[in-house]
Amino acid sequence: MFFGLSALGAKLVFVALGLTTTAFVISTIVVAVEKADLQDDLDACRNELLISTTTTTTTVATTSSSSTASVTTPPTTATPEVTETTPAPEIDYRLPGNIIPDVYDLHLNPNLESGEFTGQQTITINVLEATNEIILHSNGLTILEVAVAEGPGESLEHANKLEVIFKLDTVREFLIVFVRETLKKDEVYTLDVKFEGVMLGKIVGLYSSSYSKPDGSKKWIATSKFEPTYARQAFPCFDEPAMKAKFKVTLYHPKTDDYHALSNMNILETTDYDDNTMMTVFAQSVPMSTYLSCFIVSDFEFMSKPIIAEFGNDFEMKVYATPDQLEKVEFALDAGVGVTQYYISYFQIEYPLPKLDMVAIPDFVSGAMEHWGLVTFRETALLYHKDISSAINKQRIGSTVAHELAHMWFGNLVTMKWWNDLWLNEGFATYISYKGLNAVYPEWGMLDQFLTSDLHDVLKIDATLASHPIVQTVENPDQITELFDTITYSKGASIIRMLESFVGGEIFKQGVTNYLKKFSFSNAVTDDFLTEIAALVSEVDVKHVMETFTLQMGVPVVEVKKISNTQYKLTQKRFFSNPSDEQGSYEDSPFNYRWYIPITYFTNENKDAVETVWFDNKDTELIISNGLSSTTEWVKFNKDQMGYYRVNYEDTVWQDLARALDTNIDVMSPSDRGHLLNDVYALADATQLSYDIAFDFMDYLQHETEFVPWTIASSALITLRNRLRRVDYYQTYLSFAQGLLAEIYGTVGWVPDEGNHLKNRLRIVILEAACALGYEPCLAEAVRRFDEWIAEPSNRPAPDIRTIVYSYGIAATENEATWNKVWELFLSETDANEKAKLMSALAMSKMPFILQKYIDLAWEESNVRSQDYFSCIQSIAANPIGETLVWDYVREKWPALVDRFGLNERYLGRMIPSITGRFASQIKLDEMQTFFEKYPEAGAGAAARKQAIETVRNNIQWLEGNKEIIGQWLKNRPTEE
Ligand code: BES
Ligand code: ZN
Repeated sequence: MFFGLSALGAKLVFVALGLTTTAFVISTIVVAVEKADLQDDLDACRNELLISTTTTTTTVATTSSSSTASVTTPPTTATPEVTETTPAPEIDYRLPGNIIPDVYDLHLNPNLESGEFTGQQTITINVLEATNEIILHSNGLTILEVAVAEGPGESLEHANKLEVIFKLDTVREFLIVFVRETLKKDEVYTLDVKFEGVMLGKIVGLYSSSYSKPDGSKKWIATSKFEPTYARQAFPCFDEPAMKAKFKVTLYHPKTDDYHALSNMNILETTDYDDNTMMTVFAQSVPMSTYLSCFIVSDFEFMSKPIIAEFGNDFEMKVYATPDQLEKVEFALDAGVGVTQYYISYFQIEYPLPKLDMVAIPDFVSGAMEHWGLVTFRETALLYHKDISSAINKQRIGSTVAHELAHMWFGNLVTMKWWNDLWLNEGFATYISYKGLNAVYPEWGMLDQFLTSDLHDVLKIDATLASHPIVQTVENPDQITELFDTITYSKGASIIRMLESFVGGEIFKQGVTNYLKKFSFSNAVTDDFLTEIAALVSEVDVKHVMETFTLQMGVPVVEVKKISNTQYKLTQKRFFSNPSDEQGSYEDSPFNYRWYIPITYFTNENKDAVETVWFDNKDTELIISNGLSSTTEWVKFNKDQMGYYRVNYEDTVWQDLARALDTNIDVMSPSDRGHLLNDVYALADATQLSYDIAFDFMDYLQHETEFVPWTIASSALITLRNRLRRVDYYQTYLSFAQGLLAEIYGTVGWVPDEGNHLKNRLRIVILEAACALGYEPCLAEAVRRFDEWIAEPSNRPAPDIRTIVYSYGIAATENEATWNKVWELFLSETDANEKAKLMSALAMSKMPFILQKYIDLAWEESNVRSQDYFSCIQSIAANPIGETLVWDYVREKWPALVDRFGLNERYLGRMIPSITGRFASQIKLDEMQTFFEKYPEAGAGAAARKQAIETVRNNIQWLEGNKEIIGQWLKNRPTEE
């Protein structure tokens, strides 16, 4: 034990007794905890703990809810035995709020060799209401000692300690400390806890990560990731975002092997602790939420550059990576410095900490995490090397850095009060990251890319019944985890973008600054944000407009009817990708699925004079006449698709728009063209428009040379390929699609352009689409380059085209030895981005036995890191030959998957819609239903299951509704030859 027991020598501290791994229940005691009955309760607890050397589970009814929760004595491992895996809905998961933390003085000692850690902390707490209970969070920790004393933290050593007893509630993840003496209102107390836990075999909380040194040896590090509810796995804490407190952190680490410690704040001192251990003490932090704290012990090295701040002090930005990859941090460092300087100027608020580090972690559950002052990333999202990384990799790094650094203000300085308003964090960071990147890399055209990276994905999801409003009530950890979804991120970002477009850039910026200043170091709700913007706007009721988008799910489609050359009539309704959903109920929306929509439009005569009119949610129609004349040839609505709505026109108007583009592509911006392409396909897909119109619209593509419109067109063509794979005219469809691509394929070629980011990205979109749609010249070239590479693997293709060469080379080979060779290259590869390319390419094989082998190999952590497991499996499922193999495997292996990853794992639940997303038959739907019935506990995957079922149902109906029509059109289409 590395902490002296003296500091915790409470009079009545219960050291856990029942630490048997083969735990079994010998008694079930129902203890009613009434405040008046505290003495009874204390006695009962005490008795129970004393007799329970082999007991792990009792049941207790608490005062904070009438529900029944299971209580377990401290478990021996990080995953405690839980008796009730699906919490009853009526359980109150919230902390009572009668006690709030002020300062955590936290010591953590990770043992890198054993993969375990010990910890001790002194929390200074404020009592807001007299109570005998201190309730805080703890999950998977072994609580060794608990003590409570009057007065602030430092005085504990000499203080008169109060009589306490503690229990763990494993359903609500609570540590409940009962105190015999009533804690007095408005007094300060100190809570001391000594605990231990496990880091190995985890990827959230405080966990072990490792990487290979060039000599082949394995190096272990300790790191952490807490959002949303995993801080409680590292130290007992008040783990709710509004319970902000200051952190005084001390980390212990080995003296040898260049190990050092990092946390949110700057280091005050590093001293010897004992013969083998150093102790690093960090400065006390500003008030912050628990989920933002971070602790790293590693041997990583850094590069740094100064940030020259327009407001506040200048400071250093450092980027850390494993020592052998240090040269790969430079791009992220430049991007980080650039966007941070931009944000300081944009928000007009200084960065309040003395340092800002970014770290690439070898095992990381998501893309990145915005810990204040110590932002962590997956290696693929931070490390760039010009000879290895593609333009896509580079942009992802830029975007991720820009997103996480935006959180330093939006999320860290001002935090949502509760997870209901998560979109304030994630939607805003997503939106503002485009501004940040655009400021640093204007040539990347990020503002147009908003359509392809966020808006179009969410428009698709929001057109289904399984969608949900942006602001959504959540209580338990599974529901909270589920909320980190496309609606929160991309719809959040899209409606903020719409807001800025109608209030104007300057007002938006000022409103944001006012909001951030007003709620600094504190918490806010959606209404607080809207209030600050609304205060600066008089023309329209900003709150009302925005609430029609935040409080109800779905997306409107505005239908445009031409009454005359000078008059158009607009109506609105909720847009469904499956038209039969339209009969649904309207009662679950406070606005009956009508929106207050900013309608914008321009015509051939006034391309730059965009008109804005409001479509009130209470009005049934809107007549447009301003700016229209008898010579108006066409009108395009929703300029640059800034508004969160689709637009449908009559057939003749669609044809007018197509003709306009066919004549001169420059009459509209790339975003406007991209918008039309996206709408025309979505509307045809939803049978709200004839496919003839959609396919005819594609004609204009012969003039198109921009990345964004081509990304949209190619994604529509590939989606159709997936849908039509099993119809008899599949080949005819492919030759139609190939015909659209042939010309641009010839233009882009295979050789990347030095420094032309958008052209490089366009090239990959075209090559990928051409290969995916079976265009022979493209496939042949990919194979030729693959053969060259496989003969001499050190001679790799240019980074940009690697994925295509590897993928279509593997797809074409019938030689098992070739696949094995690529598998070996994958295993020995140390660069994370290169490894990811090889991993996805391996999934392209057309040999079922190979794919089955791959599925089995992927299960081994030594082959595929846990962080990559789901994307590996999903890429196999995206291959039509692998689809059923994966589906069978996942169903068979489900208990093992749940055991390994846990039902709270964000990606486990989402794997289901990803694997089943292309199913289009009743038999598959039945299989899914049977599977869900067999395993009714969905954890954080409940919404994903709903979505999966709906998608397959829609796929079935889509085929029924469109198969004939598309077949007819393809048959009748005029061929140019
Ligand atoms: N705050 C999130 C990290 C996170 C993600 C926590 C999921 C809990 C659950 C972070 O800011 C984030 O959004 N990361 C994204 C990448 C980003 C570039 C959109 C991620 O990890 O997927
Ligand atoms: Zn984020």
